[in-house]
Amino acid sequence: MKQKKILLEESEMPTQWYNVMPDIPNGMQPPLDPETKQPMGPEKLAAVFPMGLLEQEMSDKSWIDIPEEIQEVLHIWRPAPLVRANNLEAALGTKAKIYFKYEGVSPSGSHKTNSAVAQAYYNKREGVKRLSTETGAGQWGSALSFATHKFGLECKVYMVRVSFDQKPYRKSMMNTYGAEIVASPSPDTAFGRKILETMPDTAGSLGIAISEALEDAATRDDTKYALGSVLNHVILHQSIIGLEAKKQMEKAGDYPDVIVGCCGGGSNFAGIMTPFLTDKLEGKNIRFVGVEPASCPSLTKGKYAYDFGDVARMTPLLYMYTLGHDFIPPGIHAGGLRYHGMSPIVSALVRENLIEPISVHQLECFESGRLFAQTEGIIPAPETCHAIRGAIIEATRDLNDPKTILFNFSGHGMLDLSSYDKFYSGDLHNYEFPEEAIAEATKNLPQI
Ligand SMILES: Cc1ncc(COP(=O)(O)O)c(C=O)c1O
Repeated sequence: MKQKKILLEESEMPTQWYNVMPDIPNGMQPPLDPETKQPMGPEKLAAVFPMGLLEQEMSDKSWIDIPEEIQEVLHIWRPAPLVRANNLEAALGTKAKIYFKYEGVSPSGSHKTNSAVAQAYYNKREGVKRLSTETGAGQWGSALSFATHKFGLECKVYMVRVSFDQKPYRKSMMNTYGAEIVASPSPDTAFGRKILETMPDTAGSLGIAISEALEDAATRDDTKYALGSVLNHVILHQSIIGLEAKKQMEKAGDYPDVIVGCCGGGSNFAGIMTPFLTDKLEGKNIRFVGVEPASCPSLTKGKYAYDFGDVARMTPLLYMYTLGHDFIPPGIHAGGLRYHGMSPIVSALVRENLIEPISVHQLECFESGRLFAQTEGIIPAPETCHAIRGAIIEATRDLNDPKTILFNFSGHGMLDLSSYDKFYSGDLHNYEFPEEAIAEATKNLPQI
């Protein structure tokens, strides 16, 4: 039998991150200052981000060293295993080979910890005492709670209301790491209070929670803000996934024909696929499939335009696929995929036809997640179920096609079991956003 798990030694963990930005054909549009509509330099952003991260955000270097202090924390769980899903292949009756990169081994249970550790480190290095952040599914909030504690920082997490109610044990986890958590919209910020007045029963959204966390950081001298996805520096930190996977595929004597990942803000997908992009640009036949929920279809139905990253219009304008910053997606169970926009890096790669986006419904995703759990043993997070669904679509299109599929298993679902219960009891439904609602939501895009 061929090796099931392909492992790397700690000494084989990459010591540099890969920055895809210089390799994106036709480049990227810069973030704009919403007041002047001119490109925004690091000075203005320095109020909420440390310089170390802003340098990475705008870097044109292809490789950036990973500081030893960060490597040391990453060694707690990295290198992460690459696993051959041969039991899933057998259940599907496919000749395709399916590999997954298992990011669920991190302390908080997902890939998010890769960037959380780096962000906590750079903030600590510049004397910051406290970080504020948002969390959708709770994965990013847990990751940052762990990472801030590791580097001796305080942490305040604004958790999207619907996830706060659905995932009580994420709160326990964040409390264990010493963070403070509040449901968003919250009475703790002026913006949260305003939303609560007009929409007291709202499910909340990542866009609202980001506004609250940004307000928190902008109104306190000791606090900076941390974002778990979307931005270029987050994608840089996540490149470690694909760099490891590339070495592991080589060890397995294989190379992927297609790489699949789920897309919320774009960080885990970009993390696994960007280190393979230069091969494609050099002529290698490899496809990249990004899977998003039909209920929040920024890549497949959104507009490619400058938009705010949050509801209160506090962020710079980012050039990205967006459903409009006012868009509040339905309370689906993949909370980490409920974001109105998409990372500018992933957006630019979609624009260049280098990434193929697809959208899928949540019921078929939970069905795929259940099959994965029954065959490979690991219960996936609802977000990850979208990637599994995408991999299964690829593996079953032609059962006789012996292609090699690699997908990113972004996180485990051990704290998402209530979502599975809802699925089993028939309380989960599919939802496809009507075109008119999307047209309405994208009406208020800033005019550039
Ligand atoms: C397990 C998991 N996968 C995927 C995502 C989506 O985020 P991103 O697209 O930035 O990887 C999240 C976000 O919370 C998540 O928790």
